[in-house]
This record gives sequence, structure tokens and C-alpha cells, in this order.
Amino acid sequence: MDLHKITLVADWLQASESTVILTGAGMSTESGIPDFRSREGWWKKINPMTVSTVDALENEYELFHGFYSLRLTDLKTYHPHKGHHFLAEWENQGFVKGIVTQNVDGFHQEAGNKSVHELHGSLRSIFCSDCGQASDEGAFLNQDTCSECGGHHLRPDIILFGEILPQEVWGKAIRLIEESDLLIVIGSSLQVSPANELPFLTNGKKVIINNEATLLSEQFDLQLEGKAGDILEAIDEKRKGGEIHDDIENTKRRT
Ligand code: APR
Ligand code: ZN
Repeated sequence: MDLHKITLVADWLQASESTVILTGAGMSTESGIPDFRSREGWWKKINPMTVSTVDALENEYELFHGFYSLRLTDLKTYHPHKGHHFLAEWENQGFVKGIVTQNVDGFHQEAGNKSVHELHGSLRSIFCSDCGQASDEGAFLNQDTCSECGGHHLRPDIILFGEILPQEVWGKAIRLIEESDLLIVIGSSLQVSPANELPFLTNGKKVIINNEATLLSEQFDLQLEGKAGDILEAIDEKRKGGEIHDDIENTKRRT
């Protein structure tokens, strides 16, 4: 872990008036939830066009339902990890203005963040795709029909490929980022637009924390490669003025 970069980010966070965090699926892999484009990612096993489109919802409902009910059931087993809790603590202490997330797992709210903008919706809210009537997880998992219209297509309120993005959420996210003086991207390949354009709306400093370099990483002021949880922990320890517990650091202290 690059201690100099950790110290820089901790200083920028401490000095910032308005830090905004933009997260992707890499923020939840340490909770046990696969991301999409890494070696173990969902899209390495399943062609997204067969499950994550309106066509799949309407014409391949069994496939659609199987994919999303598996992901929804996972949320009963997996929960936010230490990285989510640091972000909640930073918002609580006034260091972070808000979270803009591409994730649909609700982990930021579960960890305690209040200002969360879900660009791609949420697995946790269910509605009838035939009449729009709100429904619930149990009815979706049981493949019940809609209580209002008897329709057979209950679905999670997430944005499928090709669907319109939730304009109100996007408007708020854009304003938040435009007003930020520090934007930290965590765990995203930045391959999906328009989310991958958001980091460049800030007039402030841009940091990316990711397991691997992305095609856009060079455009950031700072790139930290590694696991989100460990890096956020190290930034938090530095921010609090503590020593960073890192192998290199401990070796130095022992000699
Ligand atoms: N710590 C840091 N980075 C990680 C970790 C981790 N523990 N685990 C994975 N990553 C990185 C991966 O290396 C990858 O670059 O997170 C990134 C995740 O990228 P994607 O899988 O493409 O996920 P994301 O960028 O969120 O995808 C955007 O695509 O399919 C759609 O709707 C879906 O919201 C999703 C969107
Ligand atoms: Zn209905």
C-alpha cells in the first residue's frame, strides 16, 4: 500500500469542504457480492443481454427472475464490510457530503449513510412491470402475480440496459459532484456511461481507489490500487493521526 498516497488522500479529505464518493460493484466484493467485469464477475459467467434487459423481462421471465432473485437472496446473507462503515462514519462526521452509487445492494444505507444516490436503482424495491403497482420482496421471490392487475411480471426497481435513468436521482448526483472539491471513485471499472462521465464534472481533485487500473485512471489526480476496505481503513487511521498498520510499516518499527 502506497503510504504517501494514503497520507495525501487523508489530508485532502480532512481539508475538503465537500467530498463526494462514487462507488461501483468493487465496493461490495469484500462483502461477498460479485462485481461484473472482474475475473469472478457476473458478466464473465452470464451474458448481461440475456438477463438484464427489458426484452429478458418480457420474453425470458424465468431467466430474468432466476438472476435477480439469486442476487436479492444474497442480500440476506451478505452485508456491508468495514469500508462501507468508514464511509458512513465519514458522512456522519461531516467529511463526506454524499454517496453516488452504481450499486443496487443498499449496503451504503445499511451501513448508515443517509445521503445515497442510487443511479441504477435498488434490488430492494419491487414493483409490477405491467401496471406499476408497488409489491414486495416475498411476492417477487415467490413469483406471485400482481395484487393489483394479476400480472406475472414483478421486478426489482433497477435500471435494465437500455432503460431511462432516474432523472431526479441523476440531477441531484450531478449537482452534488459539480459542487464537490474532492471526488473519490471506489471499485468501478468506469466502463458504463453515463456514470463514467460523472467523475469529470467535479472542479476539485479526483481520486480513484480500485483493484486494477481502468481506462480512465490516468485522468485522476491520484490512483490507489488495492482493496477498498484496506485502503479506506488506512486513510481513516491516517486521518485520525494514527500510524498506518501495514506490513512495510510494521517491519520498519520492529528493526
Ligand atoms: N477493492 C477495489 N476494487 C475492486 C474490488 C475491491 N475489493 N473488487 C473489485 N474491484 C474493482 C474491479 O477491479 C473492477 O475494476 O472494481 C471494478 C468493478 O467494475 P465492474 O465490475 O465493471 O462494476 P461497475 O463499474 O460498478 O459496473 C457498472 O455496469 O453492468 C452494469 O449496472 C451494472 O452498475 C453496474 C455497471
Ligand atoms: Zn400489476
